[in-house]
Amino acid sequence: YGTGRVNDLGHLEIGGVDTIELTKQYGTPLYVYDIALVRERARGFKKTFEELGIAAQVAYASKAFSSIAMIQVAEQEGLSLDVVSGGELYTAIKANFPTDRIHFHGNNKSEEELHMALDYQIGCIVVDNLSELELLEEICAKREQKVKILLRVTPGIEAHTHDYILTGQEDSKFGFDLMNGQAESALRQALKSNWIEVLGLHCHIGSQIFQTTGFILAAQKIIGQLRNWQAAFDYQPTVLNLGGGFGIRYTEEDEPLPASQYVEEIVREVQAQIADSDLTMPEIWIEPGRSLVGDAGVTLYQVGSEKEVPEVRKYLAVDGGMSDNIRPALYEAKYDAVLANRPLDEVEETVAIAGKCCESGDMLIWDLPLPKSGRGDVLAVFCTGAYGYSMANNYNRIPRPAVVFVENGEARLVIKRETYEDLVRLDLALHEVVDCK
Ligand code: LLP
Repeated sequence: YGTGRVNDLGHLEIGGVDTIELTKQYGTPLYVYDIALVRERARGFKKTFEELGIAAQVAYASKAFSSIAMIQVAEQEGLSLDVVSGGELYTAIKANFPTDRIHFHGNNKSEEELHMALDYQIGCIVVDNLSELELLEEICAKREQKVKILLRVTPGIEAHTHDYILTGQEDSKFGFDLMNGQAESALRQALKSNWIEVLGLHCHIGSQIFQTTGFILAAQKIIGQLRNWQAAFDYQPTVLNLGGGFGIRYTEEDEPLPASQYVEEIVREVQAQIADSDLTMPEIWIEPGRSLVGDAGVTLYQVGSEKEVPEVRKYLAVDGGMSDNIRPALYEAKYDAVLANRPLDEVEETVAIAGKCCESGDMLIWDLPLPKSGRGDVLAVFCTGAYGYSMANNYNRIPRPAVVFVENGEARLVIKRETYEDLVRLDLALHEVVDCK
């Protein structure tokens, strides 16, 4: 997985850095990102579009992992950026990300967030529903400021993935229904506005998808409607954003396609559909999150207690869990791991890796083949780069881990470990006098 290898000391090395050294320097749990791999993934997407001769934007879906340093890497690689809240936008601004390449998502942007997006004159707002369209129109009119938007549509596609990360089906909280006239009336309304420029449409059908069928069906449905709209009221989009969702390999059970194949098949379908119409080819935008950073991240944990349930299983507990990676508890997500201090030792037993939170569901891996192991070993869990740190929390008041980037044999701390002091920073004692501002 990733670019890990075993060094002369017999330790797992990532990006040319010994992971055991990292745990000594920065403690555990520790998120480690192999930045060369992130760059390789970003370049892969961009190269595929270049080879196809297609005008495109590859936007990093920063919800997968947002931090100032990460956004700087996205900027260095010429990516655009998808943000989904004022907080993600603020992080991008702090990272000096070019605001004209920022796209703002979300099904319930607040007035404050919309003003913030307009203040920074970001590239476009992805409008999700009618009440947002009306609010945005009102705000822009008041500010006498124009805005570029995409309309997010729901094409009625069921992608084969976990229910909670499905987003393109009709009964979804996201987007305008493409097929029942909702999207069309939103488009007509937006086109009448003096303040709104509709660049095109957006759709995102789900996440961790292994096939291209869903994307292709979505493209067919969208272009089918675009044809109708062109005939009916001469609307031509300049942008078609097909979202993210390209799957990655967490364990051997997963069989994703190479990233370039998703892009190639989707683009060819769009080209074929457009060639067969009076429309001109729009720019294609995509928004990968997981497939840019997922397999570049590894979490290092210290193994602590163990518990044997005779004839059932052995539990090994690590010093993190659902507080730094909630995905197994939330989606039954599967992960693979090795002992970072001796990855080549012979496998002798199958163990269950438990977290340290007060919750029975706080299990990271149910069946992991390992050498005989226990307190003092270091466990490296692979593929934690997406929706790991970004969904981390302080359950049980466990401080969130530190994050380091490794590249070319060098490690760089990019998020400090939370301290106990950080945990109580916002707490107010009873009777404490506060200024409510
Ligand atoms: N664009 C939109 C509009 C999205 O909603 C998402 C993900 C993406 C792009 C990026 O999708 P990706 O390429 O990363 O699959 N927490 C879940 C995943 C939630 C995805 C939410 N939206 C998980 O841990 O699996």
